[in-house]
Amino acid sequence: MTITYFITGANRGIGFEFAKQLSADSNNIVIATTRSFTNAAALKELNRTNLIIIEFDLNNSLDLMRKSLQSIENYSVDVVIQNSGIAKDSQKSILQTTEDELREHYAVNAIGSVKVYQSIFPFWSKKANPETPKKLIFITSGAGCVNNFYPMQASHYGVSKAALNYISRHIAFDHKSSDLVHIKNSIVVAVHPGVVETDMSKPLLPYRESFPLPIITPQESAASTITPEESASSIIKLINGLEQKDNDTFISYDGTRHSW
Ligand SMILES: NC(=O)c1ccc[n+]([C@@H]2O[C@H](COP(=O)([O-])OP(=O)(O)OC[C@H]3O[C@@H](n4cnc5c(N)ncnc54)[C@H](OP(=O)(O)O)[C@@H]3O)[C@@H](O)[C@H]2O)c1
Repeated sequence: MTITYFITGANRGIGFEFAKQLSADSNNIVIATTRSFTNAAALKELNRTNLIIIEFDLNNSLDLMRKSLQSIENYSVDVVIQNSGIAKDSQKSILQTTEDELREHYAVNAIGSVKVYQSIFPFWSKKANPETPKKLIFITSGAGCVNNFYPMQASHYGVSKAALNYISRHIAFDHKSSDLVHIKNSIVVAVHPGVVETDMSKPLLPYRESFPLPIITPQESAASTITPEESASSIIKLINGLEQKDNDTFISYDGTRHSW
């Protein structure tokens, strides 16, 4: 039976790897989003019939985001991976952080994630799939831990991911009172993808010996990074194995559970 995935920010980085690896299985349908078709050359080159590419921008209004989803109205989505995110120039103290930086990061990483959830909900809740529980995955960061605060300067980025972690928990709480059994039994998790070699982390990697990276698993070390391929394949394995007991948790790509 077919499992349908909805992946945001799939034109590059970890999101692209999710789309590439998941669409390699012809049993899957993969709806991959990009802010713009012109940036989606790598996705298009995959040339897979089970891969649907749509334009979707988290900075748009909720109404516009809903309109972007009109072309997939016949689909019922089983697994949502809210992967889109930004991290710009966040190696600074809160004293140095500007209001614009806070607003920009909050708009995409926190408010944008809420709008992804709100706009995809009708497709995700449409009908149960006997093959899989409904799953909602928020790609977060160790930088957003509050209880398990990691001593690094993550500034506006950390603030926005901490908000995303709260959002993930609140959604899991909301679903417990759903009238729809498959939503009541759905699984919502926040996932740290590791320290991954992508455009996002590239500016920081040359300095990784001199500042602490958000290492939150015993396997990670200050100097070690993983590739987008490794991150995505580990997270796909994790998603496949998710059970009801994992609902409302914060997990690393390697399966390690964390306190928030
Ligand atoms: N790399 C790491 O070490 C690391 C560590 C912890 C957490 N993460 C998280 O992992 C996720 C993926 O990161 P990555 O490393 O793959 O980053 P990346 O290579 O910079 O890719 C980010 C993706 O998000 C998309 N995006 C940005 N703003 C958007 C918006 N307004 N609307 C829709 N899409 C938007 C980008 O689209 P465009 O190409 O159009 O910009 C791109 O597809 C992020 O949530 C990030 O915070 C990454």
